Amino acid sequence: MPLHALKTVLDIEPYKGGEASLPGFAKPVKLASNENPFGCSPKAKAAAIAALDNTALYPEGRASKLCAAIGARHGLDPDRILCGAGSDEIFQLLLRAYLAPGEEIVQSQYAFLMYRIFARPMGGVVRTAKNAGLRADVDALLAEVNEKTRIVFLDNPNNPTGTYLPMSEVRRLHAALPDTVMLVIDAAYAEYVTRDDYSAGAELAEAFDNVVMTRTFSKIHGLAALRVGWMYGPPAVIDALNKVRLPFNVATPAQAAAAAAIEDLAFAETSRAHNERERARVGAAITSFGLDVADGVGNFVLVHFTREAGRSAGDVDQHLRSRGYIVRPVGAYGLPDALRISIGTDAQNSGMLEALAEIGWR
Ligand SMILES: Cc1ncc(COP(=O)(O)O)c(C=O)c1O
Repeated sequence: MPLHALKTVLDIEPYKGGEASLPGFAKPVKLASNENPFGCSPKAKAAAIAALDNTALYPEGRASKLCAAIGARHGLDPDRILCGAGSDEIFQLLLRAYLAPGEEIVQSQYAFLMYRIFARPMGGVVRTAKNAGLRADVDALLAEVNEKTRIVFLDNPNNPTGTYLPMSEVRRLHAALPDTVMLVIDAAYAEYVTRDDYSAGAELAEAFDNVVMTRTFSKIHGLAALRVGWMYGPPAVIDALNKVRLPFNVATPAQAAAAAAIEDLAFAETSRAHNERERARVGAAITSFGLDVADGVGNFVLVHFTREAGRSAGDVDQHLRSRGYIVRPVGAYGLPDALRISIGTDAQNSGMLEALAEIGWR
C-alpha cells in the first residue's frame, strides 16, 4: 500500500491566500488579503532589523517582553496573554488542546476559513449556523450547540463580510453556552472598528473561564509577513496552550517588531483614520455604480454582483486583473457572486475604482 496522508487531511480544501503576482505586471496592486497599505511602523521595522543581530540565539519562548508591551497598551494582565505565529497558530493550538476526534466546533455561515481547515484534520466535526443576513446569528449559533460541542468560533468583525455583532449579542451568545464550551472571539479587525456598541471582548475573556479573545499584528500593525498574533484568556487556557505550542513559536525579530508596533499609537491611528475615510469613499463610489456594498467595519469592502455576463464577480475579477488589480473572490466562503476588496492607499483605491468604472454599470 503506498504512503498516504490521513483521510481527514486529504479531504481538506486547502486555504488559498490572496495572490501576490499577476503575469504582465511588475508591481500589481494587491487588494486581496486585508493588509496595511502603508506597511508597518518605522519603529517596528527598526526593531526587527536590530533583532537580526541575535539570530544565533533562540527566541525567548514565552515572548515575555511582547506580552508585557501588549498588556501595558491594552490594560491587560501579561500572564494571561499568549503569543503565536499569527492568530492562525492560536486557533490551531486551541483545537489541539480542546477538541478530541468526533467532537464539534460551531461557526457562523461565512466564518473565517481557518477554523474548519484546522478542525477537520483533527477529526473534528464542523457545524455551521446559517446567518440571518450577512451577520452572524446568535440564535442559530446556539441551535448548533450540543453535548459534543467544544468550541464556538466567532470572528467579530467577520471576514469576509465585514459585519460585526454588538457586544450585547456576544454576551447573549456567551450567557447561553454551557461552561464546557469555549467561546473564541477572533477580533483580528478590532482596531478598525469605531462603533460604540462594539467591543473586542477582552472583558469577557477576563471574567469567564470559557472565553478567549484573539488578536493579530497582521492587519493594522502591518506585520503580516512576520506572523504574530496573541490571545487573552483564562490562566488554565494559557497553561494548556503553552504545553502544546512549539517552544520557540514566535521569531525574535517578530517579537521585537510587534512590541515596537503596539507602542506606536500614532501609526495605528493614522492607519485607522485613513481606512475609515477610504472605506467610505470606496463604498460610496461602488454603490454609485448600482452595486450592493455590505455595511462593513473592517479594512475591506464586500461587493455583490449579478450573474450578468461581463458584470459577474468572475468577470469583474478578470477585468480588474487585466488592469493590474488583485482582489479576492470569496466563493470558498459560499459567496460566489461577491468580491472582497481591501482598502489600499488613496492612489490604489482610485485606480481600482477607475478600472471598475470601465465596465460601465448604468
Ligand atoms: C478573521 C480573521 N482572523 C484571523 C486571521 C489570521 O490572522 P493572522 O495573520 O494573525 O494569522 C485573519 C486573516 O485574514 C482573519 O481575517
